[in-house]
Amino acid sequence: MELAPSILSADFSRLGEDVKQIENAGAHLIHVDVMDGHFVPNISYGATVMKSLCGRTQMPFDVHLMIENPDQYIGDFVTEQTEYITVHQEACRHINRTVQHIRSMDVKPGVAINPGTPVSALEYVLEDADLILIMSVNPGFGGQKFIPSAIRKAQELKGLREKYGLDFRIEIDGGINLANVKTVIDAGVEIIVAGSSVFKAEDVPARVQEFLDIFEN
Ligand code: DX5
Ligand code: ZN
Repeated sequence: MELAPSILSADFSRLGEDVKQIENAGAHLIHVDVMDGHFVPNISYGATVMKSLCGRTQMPFDVHLMIENPDQYIGDFVTEQTEYITVHQEACRHINRTVQHIRSMDVKPGVAINPGTPVSALEYVLEDADLILIMSVNPGFGGQKFIPSAIRKAQELKGLREKYGLDFRIEIDGGINLANVKTVIDAGVEIIVAGSSVFKAEDVPARVQEFLDIFEN
């Protein structure tokens, strides 16, 4: 199990300190939410902000591109610290090509699906991806309410992974908190993205530890 706090909910005026704080508390990855105002109705930040964290932390980057034409920008997010680059199935006309493009840059490719997209849309990309990201909110904003059908999707993906002998990892993103995280873990999720529930907590390191405690039980 890995915890990937989303810096979308961090304080950008002290991003370096916020990231150091979650690293010291034991978080595993930094989830980097990139929004272009086209694929989703919000603009967040780009590669410059992400790269400002290079070397400020040892945590690998888990890049989530919520953008149109991701192929055009993938190279910008490749750094020595980039572990995953995830694109949306809905944003890619040639998803197989995009996944190969990410892999050719020595980064693990991920594919995300929106709440309205069925797992079946991934059938022919499962064997090429290292990560499948289930959106449990409509992407664009932090702090939204968890959409429960994501649980069925995790179960379905786990079943397909077993059936075909594949080894992608299952990640969930949106509306995760201490009350629902156990349910998604039980459904098969291995990487937990958490934005507001981590960074808006009164005691951020304690909140990270609370997630880690649930992972161990
Ligand atoms: C939503 C983003 C998420 C978001 C999660 O579009 O992809 O990563 O930051 O935030 P919470 O955990 O607050 O729902
Ligand atoms: Zn995200």
